[in-house]
Amino acid sequence: MDSPEPLDSLLHEERVFRPLPQMIIEAGINPQDLIAARARADSDLCSYWEEAAEELDWFTKWDQVLDDSNAPNYKWFTGARCNIVYNALDRHIETVNKNRLALIWEGEPGDSRQFTYYELYRAVNKFANGLRSLGVTKGDRVVLYMPQLPETVISMLACARIGAVHSLVFSGFSAKNLRERIREIQPRVVVTVDGFYRNGQVIRLKEAVDSALLDNPSEKLESVVVVHRANVEVAMDSARDYWYEDIVRHERAHAAAEIMDSSDPLFILHTSGTAGKPKGIIHSHGGYMVGVHRTFKWVFDLKPTDIFWCSADPGWITGHSYLVYGPLLAGTTTVMYEGHALYPQADRLWNIISKYGVSIFYTSPTQIRTLMRFGHRYPDQHDLSTLRILGAVGEPFNPEAWIWLYENIGKSQCPVLDTWWQTETGMIMISPMPVSVLKPGSVTRALPGVDADVVNLKGEPVPAGKGGFLVIKKPWPAMFSAVLNDDRALVDHYWGIIPGMFYAGDVARKDEDGYFWIQGRADDVLNIAGHRIGSAEVESALTGHHDIAEAVVIGVPDKIKGEVAKAFVTLIYDAVESDELHKELIDHIHRELGTIVAVKSIEFCDELPKTSSGKVKRMALKEREGL
Ligand code: PRX
Repeated sequence: MDSPEPLDSLLHEERVFRPLPQMIIEAGINPQDLIAARARADSDLCSYWEEAAEELDWFTKWDQVLDDSNAPNYKWFTGARCNIVYNALDRHIETVNKNRLALIWEGEPGDSRQFTYYELYRAVNKFANGLRSLGVTKGDRVVLYMPQLPETVISMLACARIGAVHSLVFSGFSAKNLRERIREIQPRVVVTVDGFYRNGQVIRLKEAVDSALLDNPSEKLESVVVVHRANVEVAMDSARDYWYEDIVRHERAHAAAEIMDSSDPLFILHTSGTAGKPKGIIHSHGGYMVGVHRTFKWVFDLKPTDIFWCSADPGWITGHSYLVYGPLLAGTTTVMYEGHALYPQADRLWNIISKYGVSIFYTSPTQIRTLMRFGHRYPDQHDLSTLRILGAVGEPFNPEAWIWLYENIGKSQCPVLDTWWQTETGMIMISPMPVSVLKPGSVTRALPGVDADVVNLKGEPVPAGKGGFLVIKKPWPAMFSAVLNDDRALVDHYWGIIPGMFYAGDVARKDEDGYFWIQGRADDVLNIAGHRIGSAEVESALTGHHDIAEAVVIGVPDKIKGEVAKAFVTLIYDAVESDELHKELIDHIHRELGTIVAVKSIEFCDELPKTSSGKVKRMALKEREGL
């Protein structure tokens, strides 16, 4: 396969933004520090990450920083004992951070709840004890089907505290999706809410859990815990279902943190890959906490007075690493908002920033493109002067939206950090720091301790300006440790494609300054509003409909969401194409996979272009669309 050519859209961007002098003066890591850190990591990767690990508390220190004797099954901090929650909570309550705000939460209707580190510690311990009383022990799995609520953070931390493995299923996914996850994960407990608010409506999650649990997809499942949020009526099975409030009411506010091996699993999070079903990516306590802590503090140049807001949902890796774990490990205040960015009107995010004095705002290009349609009128109505740093993740950031964010939200005073990483990497990998020279549309350079490159399929670096495959050449601490129920995946999907390198699945190029420009996925994974959706998942949902014989799905560009799905289908002999069927099929996809799968259209075809061996020619369909 030839190396792909770069996309035109990012080729002609030549603007450069230099850091303001004040930013350099105040930076924890100035440009010289950055050069020195890179040199140190290049010459001795292990000592660089060991120094980062020393900033956290361990019950027992490691025998070895990195065990690469069984690559690609890399093991970080072997022999070490720790618990990420001890570092996210206990460590802080012994310091002045005890009374600092850990979490500021705002509900969509406008209600608000706040937790100091001590209050969060108590709430987590109570639920940790509650989970123990339900029989959950170290190594058990707990599925969380929860929206943006304090109890979601509490549940994640309570699981990790007692050594249980949490697996969050995004609340926008369908009951069918949830059922599939439960079948694969085999949890002992599912935690959910009665309902929550989204764009002025109540979304009923417990109802979805009940339908996902019909015929018991998890043999291990014993209990469902339900948080009260929207006060909607729900059916409670007296043998299985408990209200969260009843579980925690009489529990003690102290629960010993389980002593975990550095490589013990912390969470499972599913993400889409090229082949068929989503993969359950597994992250572990030790390496993950080191990588997330270091990157959070460095990339966002954390100050003691910061109020940090990551607007991603905790159901995605961004939420795990930089809404929950990163900020709490660093002892800062993290902000969480339950609802929709346009509710009740398009200034909600700006209102939240001014109300709580947010200083670092980490968001997605889709969110910015959605809001920039409304112009600068809304941002102008709010005091955004507390902002110091802006960041984005999840999809290519088109220069137009980058500049809009820079000028209208950051008032040309705040660096915009376009950060590249993945569910699998666990932590930010390629990203500017606040003192970096920025080019809109570029994720700039790899962070210290990360060895990224653009290569051809033989693993040879491609010349500057040429497109190629994005790889990571050396292990990093927050790397995923395994894929659920798939021992071969580590080699087959990641380390064996270009032997000896981690294949990220993205197409990228480097420019003459060594800056990375990410073009998009190299495989058949769509990136809809920053969410990874496999073409194969949408195709399989479509062929599950009784009127469909065959289906092929491709990604087509979209002004707001970056990319949306377009499907080509053939019908079975007695089905008739109609507008109603078109609508029914889109509803069907949403029921099967959730409404995040935005579909531009479904084209009814007499036949699909095929190779002589009968495989559908996806490329031919892309060409037909002018892609
Ligand atoms: O294609 C890249 C894109 O998102 C993919 C990872 O998706 P996920 O595992 O869901 O994690 C998203 C949040 C960490 C990548 O393979 N991606 C991520 N960040 C960027 C990006 N594409 C372009 N620019 C980015 N900054």
